[in-house]
Amino acid sequence: DDRINVAIDGPAGAGKSTVAKLVAERLGYIYIDTGAMYRVVAYKALEDGVGPDHAAEAVRTAERLSIELRPGQQRQQVLADGEDVTDAIRSASVTSKVSAYASNPGIRDILVRKQQEMARKKGVVMDGRDIGTKVLPDAEVKIYLTASVEKRAQRRFEELPEGSTTMEELREDIARRDEMDRNREHSPLVQAEDAIRIDSTDMSIEEVTEKILAICSEAI
Ligand code: C5P
Repeated sequence: DDRINVAIDGPAGAGKSTVAKLVAERLGYIYIDTGAMYRVVAYKALEDGVGPDHAAEAVRTAERLSIELRPGQQRQQVLADGEDVTDAIRSASVTSKVSAYASNPGIRDILVRKQQEMARKKGVVMDGRDIGTKVLPDAEVKIYLTASVEKRAQRRFEELPEGSTTMEELREDIARRDEMDRNREHSPLVQAEDAIRIDSTDMSIEEVTEKILAICSEAI
């Protein structure tokens, strides 16, 4: 079996999930959105009234939780204890709190173990913040995908329903999450030494996808 693992890391809104899904489709691999897993934990904890400051209780929420990622037609379906939370985990309240939960090392340990188990048989394209550095340090291909804050906010803006938020709010949310993800003590967002950096500010989705596929074909 010559299948490989592909790690795609980078800041919020760089286009990781869109590109990772396309790369997985083209390779016939499984796409795993690890951000969705952190979002599920944040969603459940918030629902249970456990704030990010209640570290030990939040870890217990993560321990008890069953997370299922199902490849769907349009996009991946996300189940938390059997409940479809695909849309709920993208809400503004979850988005604004998720990085605070993700800085909890106990929560990270639980999710990292699940992610490693999912990638054990190879043939996985995984996107996140710490995939190349921590989750899959031996991934055959590592990409660090980035873009300017302005461009990332603009892309998010175009994805969201009209009137749901403003460019200014998105710019602030992205900058604040970047800051938290880069400066946290455990597994901060950082480019792996052996990752290939792609700046997608002036590239189309197709161009980024083709570039990553070309890098993969060299590794396979
Ligand atoms: O990828 P997405 O923006 O949905 O991720 C939501 C949040 O989950 C990130 O801002 C980050 O705080 C956290 N995350 C993480 N490690 C990952 C994936 C996501 O800390 N591998």
